[in-house]
Amino acid sequence: MDKLVVEGRHPLSGSIPIDGSKNTALPLMAASVLGDGTMTIKNVPNLRDVTTFAHVLRVAGARVQFDPAAHQLTIDAANITYPEAPYELVRKMRASFYMLGALIGRRGHARVSMPGGCSWGPRPVDLHLNGLKAFGAEIDLEQGYVVARAPGGRLSGGSFEMTPSSVGATINLLLAAVTAEGGCRIENAAREPDVVVFGEALEKMGAKIEGLGTQTIEIEGTARLYPVEFTNASDRIELGTFMIAAAIAGAPGEPIRLTNAEPEYLGEAFIDAFRQTGAHVEIGDDYVEVAAPETLQPVDITTDVYPGFPTDLQAQWTVLLTQADGRGRITDTVYSDRFKHIAELKRMNAYAMVQDDTATVRGGRSLKGAQVMSTDLRASVSLVLAGLVAEGETHVLRVYHLDRGYEDLEGKLTDAGARIHRETYDEELGEPEELKEA
Ligand code: EPZ
Repeated sequence: MDKLVVEGRHPLSGSIPIDGSKNTALPLMAASVLGDGTMTIKNVPNLRDVTTFAHVLRVAGARVQFDPAAHQLTIDAANITYPEAPYELVRKMRASFYMLGALIGRRGHARVSMPGGCSWGPRPVDLHLNGLKAFGAEIDLEQGYVVARAPGGRLSGGSFEMTPSSVGATINLLLAAVTAEGGCRIENAAREPDVVVFGEALEKMGAKIEGLGTQTIEIEGTARLYPVEFTNASDRIELGTFMIAAAIAGAPGEPIRLTNAEPEYLGEAFIDAFRQTGAHVEIGDDYVEVAAPETLQPVDITTDVYPGFPTDLQAQWTVLLTQADGRGRITDTVYSDRFKHIAELKRMNAYAMVQDDTATVRGGRSLKGAQVMSTDLRASVSLVLAGLVAEGETHVLRVYHLDRGYEDLEGKLTDAGARIHRETYDEELGEPEELKEA
């Protein structure tokens, strides 16, 4: 088991490169199943979730090569001979559920394990299943697997309104709808950049889609899609994470440059809230420069679907509030119980409390290094951010969570002046049940 050991209070400076988006790369990998040939995806981050999805594709019959140094995936999906996604992989990574839409879109039938819950509660898939039924799929549940079939081999088409707007359901429905016999319409569709860039890849593959990035997406089915070469988006959540790191751990007044970025994918809500903290921000076409202010102002945030404040940045925002001059509140309207990191931050002397879907954080107290436990991907990175500013040493345990979504975090932070390294350790409590994908 690995942990990260952080020696606090070494200011960050210089520049940090942003890698490809995890939450766009995974649907792009699913999209490759729709093309009966070899697809190349560039700017793919070297993450555990990418290698897990590569296994999922191989089970279905694809040949997958990943060059981590070149950040390039080559997927030959000519022979999708086994339209299934097994429990042991779907249990580990929820995004494997995208194979349901992809296999229906390619083969007209699929047998995919239901994802379980995750570390912060149930993650239902009712919108995925009801949407596929609305498009004409026959869906059965057998021993924890979804068995789906398009009568006659192609979905007939239809219309579906989703409540709430779901990123994963929008992606799954697009994967199934692009090769339907008739037209499909998704109302209250997700507008996240992950969905838009993924949809643009489908269009490049020959799909006919109107309304990407709006709440109504119309798809005109086409008989087949073609493999293409496609460049993945830059990771907006990694960008936001490092902007927060710069604002709390940067030497005051010294700008830190975040490169290979696509700042427009952050959404207005996050950028507005970030500016209100008093941090100095310069936003370029492919970079963001952040300089920490003398004093950070507390800014209340409420998460929402895009272009609202991303729920994937609320744990990191909690740490920013511990460094601000006053009291701040965080409300998560997307996941009401995504606050497992708060208990760990309190062990580092943070003043924070959770009431229902809101965390209240008061700054003005120094954080102190401690052994802390990761519970999910974004919670674990928030503990590393806390370690950067805490007095003494912080040991962030179970960083396998972190390795799912951040490529070489300790290398990037070390290059920017932090003192952080990886160590292996034994969990005297025994191997934890691997928690589900965040
Ligand atoms: C995606 O998860 C992301 N994962 C999550 O990022 C992110 O937190 C989430 O979107 C919200 O932005 C990937 O892209 C791989 P949802 P997803 O379906 O698609 C409810 C990370 O840290 N819902 O948009 O599973 C659900 O309960 C991860 O990288 C239903 O009710 O999220 C939640 O309240 C964590 N029924 C809301 O929708 C459904 O069938 C949003 O979930 C599906 C979802």
